[in-house]
Amino acid sequence: MIDIHDLWKSFEGNEVLKGLTLTVKKGETLVILGRSGVGKSVLLKHIIGISHADKGYIEVDGVRVSDLRGEKRYKASLKMGMLFQGAALFDSMNIEDNTAFFLRQHGNIETGKKYSKSEIGDRVDEALRMVDLEGTQKKMPSDLSGGMRKRAGLARLIVYRPEYLLYDEPTTGLDPITAMQINELIVKTQEELKATSIVVTHDIVSSLFVGDRLALHKDGKIAYIDEPDAFLKIDDPIIEFLRKTISEDPRTFRRK
Ligand SMILES: Nc1ncnc2c1ncn2[C@@H]1O[C@H](COP(=O)(O)OP(=O)(O)OP(=O)(O)O)[C@@H](O)[C@H]1O
Ligand SMILES: [Mg+2]
Repeated sequence: MIDIHDLWKSFEGNEVLKGLTLTVKKGETLVILGRSGVGKSVLLKHIIGISHADKGYIEVDGVRVSDLRGEKRYKASLKMGMLFQGAALFDSMNIEDNTAFFLRQHGNIETGKKYSKSEIGDRVDEALRMVDLEGTQKKMPSDLSGGMRKRAGLARLIVYRPEYLLYDEPTTGLDPITAMQINELIVKTQEELKATSIVVTHDIVSSLFVGDRLALHKDGKIAYIDEPDAFLKIDDPIIEFLRKTISEDPRTFRRK
């Protein structure tokens, strides 16, 4: 469980988080919607530990990670994986090396033991298979389409089976069909890893497809949080706008 309490953050007088409080339940996929620039990416960066709040705290499984610094904070973040806005692959490494990067770097998170070459190879193959990118091991990121790069970014995360997955705009800039493939992958990854996920997006179709609960980030806080049907009924201009853009409930496209 992630428990965020009264989080404040400003950048040179620009107040971005203004007492944000949020609980993410174990095993759920929570979607965070909100207008551009409200601070959704900033919030994720606080959770993963690359930004530090001015006030308030974040607890992950009962550990107050926001109080930790240096090596300790870094270790606490190893149970989390984040898919950054824009995928963030290493351009000079092929897909196999990109996917293996974390395993080579860290070895087993629990025991600290290095993985053997064949273990790394097997886990990289498995991760690439999960995102439908088998056979791309020797390709360079520049050889892949935008959708494939997003999937390779996801393979880099799932290869070390994090308990928490943070996705920053996973479908932005993709055509609707490719976006739906990413949505399906988010659901499949969630089921296979039994992870807890936070998905930040502007995409209401994606939100309804993947989300157990939806939240609206507005004015530096989580203004509303609820299950999809109840969320869509909330009387708020942004939610009304989102509601009007849906022609068919995306959940009907979920594979049984
Ligand atoms: N390191 C930083 N230094 C200064 N200002 C920052 C920094 N990081 C974020 N900001 C500011 O914080 C605000 C929120 O940024 P953030 O990237 O979280 O928005 P967002 O909700 O993710 O938007 P988008 O939907 O466009 O990705 C913006 O005004 C941004 O300029
Ligand atoms: Mg952002």
